[in-house]
Amino acid sequence: MTAPPATRVLGIDRAAIEAAARCLAAGGLVAFPTETVYGLGADATDGRAVARLYEAKGRPAFNPLIAHVSDVAAARKLAHFDADAARLAEKFWPGPLTLVLPKAEGCLVADLATAGLDTIAVRVPKHPVAQNILKAFGKPIVAPSANRSGHVSPTNAAHVLADLRGRVDLIIDGGATPVGIESSIVACLGEPILLRPGGVPREDIERTLGRPLAQPPRAVEAAAGDAAPAAPGMLAAHYAPHTPLRLDVAAVAPGEALLAFGPQMPAGAGQAARVLNLSPRGDLVEAAANLFSHLRDLDAAAAPCIAVMPVPGNGLGEAINDRLRRARRGVTP
Ligand code: TXA
Ligand code: MG
Repeated sequence: MTAPPATRVLGIDRAAIEAAARCLAAGGLVAFPTETVYGLGADATDGRAVARLYEAKGRPAFNPLIAHVSDVAAARKLAHFDADAARLAEKFWPGPLTLVLPKAEGCLVADLATAGLDTIAVRVPKHPVAQNILKAFGKPIVAPSANRSGHVSPTNAAHVLADLRGRVDLIIDGGATPVGIESSIVACLGEPILLRPGGVPREDIERTLGRPLAQPPRAVEAAAGDAAPAAPGMLAAHYAPHTPLRLDVAAVAPGEALLAFGPQMPAGAGQAARVLNLSPRGDLVEAAANLFSHLRDLDAAAAPCIAVMPVPGNGLGEAINDRLRRARRGVTP
């Protein structure tokens, strides 16, 4: 397959939304903002467009995609909702939650997009640009994060261009994404399980369910490398920058880059090659929004190592720590 000759970048006016819908209808690839991160969209019902999308990302084809729809009614045409799923959808949609559910009979999403599974990941995004594109297009859109496979997720259009210029048809530039980390993924295939911590904190999900989330099977957390994951999506190297990471540091070595959190600087911060703070006031929501962008910027500093201060594990801190651990593991020593 040939790469698109050029990547167009448009704003978010009506003409841009219509161009996005036309491009998707023609089997094209359109990157657009959601409230979490930028997604790389393709017509979910068009197997050839989905194949192009895997090719553009350089993504292992066994890793299934999230189908994005504009509302719960559209989601119900794709998947079967039990009582827990219905409660979570009611509470958190539109918003940064993805549900993995049994695929509905007559679901039009291409088998390639669900990697042949009998389950499907569905999400109703809240971002107005994503909503407008979904409404203008009128069909489900599969959209992984708009980065090359193995790189950190993009939170602005410049990140998307850096990874995918010349590989996608169109980028809709809607500025920085407000949440900054990917959606939380909950499987409702029995007792609800948190497959990926993300934009909706575990505590909020559990409050809505009225009970704790079940523990995922160990295989889910351990899955990595080339073997098809037992529960896909948990490739350990998924969020890797190129520079090695050192987590929970109390002291910085001279020449290291520092990813700080909160008002107190660690020992040696004055000799760091570059310092970026996720949230000087120690706010986890602000930290999530800055995480991938700061990781990219520190990666570009070409320091021998990125030293990362401890980030608390409550609220969005669970997802932040998850991404930091993956970013560290992704680098082969
Ligand atoms: O916030 C987000 O979720 C962003 C925006 C663009 O919506 N999308 C995103 O997509 O993060 P992606 O493809 O980078 O991550 C989706 C994850 C993958 O790890 C995939 O393996 C998992 O969802 N997934 C998809 N379908 C699944 C299924 N049927 N069972 C288990 N995991 C699934
Ligand atoms: Mg991704």
